[in-house]
Amino acid sequence: MSDSPANRVNATTIGIIGTGSMGQALIAGWSNKVHRIVAVVRDKPKYAPLEAEYTEHLLTVTEDRAVLTECSVVVVAIKPQMIREILHEFSTFIAPGTVVISVAAGITTEFIGRVFPNTDQIIRAMPNTPSIIGKGVTGVSGSPECTRESLDVACELMSSVGVVVEVPESQQNALAAVSGSGPAYLFYLAQYLLQGAHELGLDPATAEELVRQTLLGSADLLATSAMSPIALRQQVTSPGGMTAAAMQVLDDSHVGPAVVAALARGTERANELGSP
Ligand SMILES: NC(=O)c1ccc[n+]([C@@H]2O[C@H](COP(=O)([O-])OP(=O)(O)OC[C@H]3O[C@@H](n4cnc5c(N)ncnc54)[C@H](OP(=O)(O)O)[C@@H]3O)[C@@H](O)[C@H]2O)c1
Repeated sequence: MSDSPANRVNATTIGIIGTGSMGQALIAGWSNKVHRIVAVVRDKPKYAPLEAEYTEHLLTVTEDRAVLTECSVVVVAIKPQMIREILHEFSTFIAPGTVVISVAAGITTEFIGRVFPNTDQIIRAMPNTPSIIGKGVTGVSGSPECTRESLDVACELMSSVGVVVEVPESQQNALAAVSGSGPAYLFYLAQYLLQGAHELGLDPATAEELVRQTLLGSADLLATSAMSPIALRQQVTSPGGMTAAAMQVLDDSHVGPAVVAALARGTERANELGSP
């Protein structure tokens, strides 16, 4: 068997600290790719039912942190604030050379490396929630000491929940503002499209179908068309027509600059989360 990243991942036992929405999305994505996952939790009865969702012995849920010593890859998927408070409690269970992948917003590889001195193979990854259905996009960066081999393992793992983009770590917070938080911007638009549809008198079921299908169809069109977003928008906008009138309201309300400012504030907040 060749020593490709896929084969290395296949032979790996993965440990995961944090089995919330992102941790569970990752476990689901990896379920056909790895032979064993151990989820270290602080409340076993809460998470034990997850074991039954996968083929026998694939997932072990445990409160025993010592199992992490058996894992050649450990994924950190707890909240950034919790990382500062409790990650050091796992440090003695990280075996030398373990590939550690942190998905926490704002937390640097340098910080994780200080908490886990047994290894310098630290990778920062920023997925997003469409990973739950295998349609995520993940930005991946390695610590300066991280080998290509470790990065390949991380990319192989993250590719099971969507597309992977490698970026310098200095761009991780900007990437997090665009694609990590990105789904929230689309869902915000969906929320107000629904509210507007209700206020115009459309019944809730019809409004729901119109909004979901419009966003889905438009996203597919954007993904598959060679046209730019501006050209696609112009295609819907006849001069003097109803879309032009509606878009004028958005322009007058400075919605475009507000989106740009939102990305800047998100990036700034990620910087704050990463600051000691
Ligand atoms: N959600 C997203 O869109 C997204 C996108 C990209 C990256 N991320 C990153 O993913 C990380 C997790 O986010 P999330 O949305 O999945 O949060 P979440 O749903 O709140 O999950 C956090 C998990 O951490 C667990 N946890 C807390 N303390 C623990 C401990 N001492 N031992 C073991 N487990 C512990 C929690 O368990 P309890 O239930 O026991 O509290 C919970 O399962 C964050 O760092 C975030 O920045 C999230």
